[in-house]
Amino acid sequence: MKKIWMAAALLAAFSIGAEATENATADVAVIGAGGAGLSAAVQAHDLGAKVIVLEKMPMVGGNTIRAAGGLNAAGTPYQAAKGGQAALDSAEIMYYDTMKGGHWLGNPELVRTLAERSASSVEWLVTLGADLRDVGLMAGATLPRTHRPTGGALVGPEVIRTLYTASKTRNLDIRTNSTVQEIIMKGGRVAGVKVKDKEGTYTITAKAVVDAAGGFGANNAMVSKYVPKLKGFATTNQPGAQGEGLTMAEEAGAKLIQMDQIQTHPTVVPEFGEMITEAVRGNGAILINKDGKRFFNELDTRDAVSAAILKQKDGVAYLFFDSDMQKSLKATNSYIRQRYCLTGATLDEIAGLMKVDPAVLKATMEDWKKAKSSGNDPFGRTDMPRNLDVGPFYAIAVTPAVHHTMGGIQIDKKTRVYDKSGRVIPGLFAAGEVTGGIHGANRLGGNAQADIVTFGRIAGEEAFVYSKSAAN
Ligand code: FAD
Ligand code: FUM
Repeated sequence: MKKIWMAAALLAAFSIGAEATENATADVAVIGAGGAGLSAAVQAHDLGAKVIVLEKMPMVGGNTIRAAGGLNAAGTPYQAAKGGQAALDSAEIMYYDTMKGGHWLGNPELVRTLAERSASSVEWLVTLGADLRDVGLMAGATLPRTHRPTGGALVGPEVIRTLYTASKTRNLDIRTNSTVQEIIMKGGRVAGVKVKDKEGTYTITAKAVVDAAGGFGANNAMVSKYVPKLKGFATTNQPGAQGEGLTMAEEAGAKLIQMDQIQTHPTVVPEFGEMITEAVRGNGAILINKDGKRFFNELDTRDAVSAAILKQKDGVAYLFFDSDMQKSLKATNSYIRQRYCLTGATLDEIAGLMKVDPAVLKATMEDWKKAKSSGNDPFGRTDMPRNLDVGPFYAIAVTPAVHHTMGGIQIDKKTRVYDKSGRVIPGLFAAGEVTGGIHGANRLGGNAQADIVTFGRIAGEEAFVYSKSAAN
């Protein structure tokens, strides 16, 4: 019931723009009103462009509004204020973590841009009114750099609230229920987009188009075409993540790269489909299998943790935490009220609910405390912030689900789109999950939010400059 209410409230809050069938003209047409599209739109507008944003769903937000754990940035004032390890972070370390986490398949030029501009992306959002004060650790990161609202609340609703408010203040033309069907090309250049809404089909003439239509995680036919072993997997993605942004760009001549690089998120609740944020592990939670034992470094990268869970009995593990951890992260407030979350006042009680031997669970927790106090974890985990010995205790059964499509449209650091012969397609720009080459073989938690704001803004700038250039 609560979920239905929340969906209705979000729909009311974020549904904007009237449907229209008249042909229109803009300097920049933006496909998709997720984080990348809205960042591009606000940026292009602020430089002086007439912008129209097209969103096929009834509400703005895309996958961005679902984001949970945070937004990565290195060298921010919030990391300095947190102090300790966080204050030691730098763009160089973020670059290294991102390249390593992606198994060195990321494009160094794009990854450098991501890392070097990440702090300014946070600053920009904060200037627009975002709260990104809380800084935490996520898997695969050497140091805490994941920014989210105070108390560890969900980042996606905050990013979309901020960008939506900025769009509304600027009176931006954002059209929901408006599906872009085609990027129109004339004489080898972008000339606009063809749009379908409830009343029919019309054309927006625009010199520059920003494709920010997101990934294809919710399209299992497309996912399993590239990675057959993911056939039938559940997904964390919103239903609109179908991949038309990639298909349309390819039809306009764009080159798609690394399409078989698809990530699963390790901790999704079977049957409910709810993703439990990685920040839970970042703040101290551990994984326990159905035998009551730990089995892996919980803060290893997602590909490795997912594979380890799938090797356990029934391909499932329990995400286990105590009240001390729970209170450190607002994002958990809703999890512990859900039917899927087991709650036990004592280790004996939670063991009973998990159907594991209490003696084994107690031994596991004693081993954990020893590892924490000695700093020597048999599974190689280096960050062990809590003893996990304060009741009540919580356990949530989790398994991997399709989460992020790392491959996509080939771009350069100016977000210009390339064709199959290595030439720039004049007037076409792309940003966000629709692009490929930034996250390589494995995206680090928090890096997509950094990606969409950083490259979304660059796309807005570049599309504005292109649309106003006399040569075009
Ligand atoms: P989206 O936000 O998906 O926006 C694309 C928009 O384009 C959508 O609204 C879509 O409906 C629209 N669209 C598609 N096709 C068309 C069309 N033909 N015409 C018009 N509109 C179209 N990343 C992090 O860094 N940190 C996190 O904490 C985090 N948590 C996540 C949690 C979940 C549950 C999920 C699913 C993802 C999470 N991610 C996180 C990943 C990250 O949120 C996404 O990769 C990112 O938000 C994608 O942004 P985007 O703007 O590229 O695409
Ligand atoms: O677990 C999470 O909060 C997801 C983060 C991400 O996909 O970056």
